Amino acid sequence: MALVDVKNVSYVYADGHQALENVSLQIEKGERVAVLGPNGAGKSTLFQLLNGLLQATSGTVSIDGLPVEKKNLFQIRSKVGMVFQDSDDQLFNSSVRQEVAYGLMNMHITGKELEKAVDWALDVAGIAGYGSKSPNNLSGGEKKRVALASVLAMKPEVLVLDEPTAALDPHGVSNLIRLLNTINKELHITLIFASHDADMVPLLSDRVYLMDSGKILTYGTTSEVFGQKENIRKIGLRLPRVAHLTEILERDGILKTESIPLTIGQARKVFGNAATLTGGGTDTIVGRNQNTQSG
Ligand SMILES: Nc1ncnc2c1ncn2[C@@H]1O[C@H](COP(=O)(O)OP(=O)(O)OP(=O)(O)O)[C@@H](O)[C@H]1O
Ligand SMILES: [Mg+2]
Repeated sequence: MALVDVKNVSYVYADGHQALENVSLQIEKGERVAVLGPNGAGKSTLFQLLNGLLQATSGTVSIDGLPVEKKNLFQIRSKVGMVFQDSDDQLFNSSVRQEVAYGLMNMHITGKELEKAVDWALDVAGIAGYGSKSPNNLSGGEKKRVALASVLAMKPEVLVLDEPTAALDPHGVSNLIRLLNTINKELHITLIFASHDADMVPLLSDRVYLMDSGKILTYGTTSEVFGQKENIRKIGLRLPRVAHLTEILERDGILKTESIPLTIGQARKVFGNAATLTGGGTDTIVGRNQNTQSG
């Protein structure tokens, strides 16, 4: 049984707009899964179904075998931690410490146990010194960490993050990616995130669901989905920049490779491999001094 099980779900908003059409996805414990899609694809709508903020018009959603229905919402929300795209939608307490304690207090955790859990979450999120500050007076990246700490404090099984790196600077993006990967690896928390950032998705996902116009177009491992270039481009998204560069070098006859790199780490391997090859391998630099034109 999948930890997150969405079966044939459709969702129609009150004004009649159909935001999701027959969407299914299954996510196992410990996976890192991206929902990749352009604006209006239905990512946020789908995520709101996962913790019962919205109820499916048809189809079923269950978490750890538990249907997402009114009577189960307390249990569902202790299993599914949601980090909103806009932290201002999430933070409403007057201090960071109160913000992080809020969900725990709702779960009737008090005293030393409460203090310990808050300290732990602040520490994991890298904001140990921020407890007495007002969330209002923090930067966007700091607010994101507070939102993350408030959710992590409840030790969710699944962390659902809607556009987690939007509005962060490059340093903030790499810090958050490192933090989320550590949370996944060491705390075994399942990650599901929405994004349209092709460079970021491969750094944080094992699998990708590609969405457009309320439907899942395709899904598979991250490299399988990015291998379907036409599908990605058809919906107005792009490949990671290093994959695009590799494509140009191949088109211009400069490089030959069987594995398209999606991250700089992967590109270093492919390019480094090609540069040291004398020929006959899978990755080959064909002509290093040719002039190329690229878009
Ligand atoms: N409350 C609402 N009432 C009616 N239509 C809505 C409502 N909220 C969203 N929609 C519509 O549903 C569709 C999916 O919206 P959703 O916010 O889920 O997309 P998204 O993939 O999260 O987009 P983005 O990348 O811009 O965040 C859009 O066409 C949107 O206009
Ligand atoms: Mg959205």
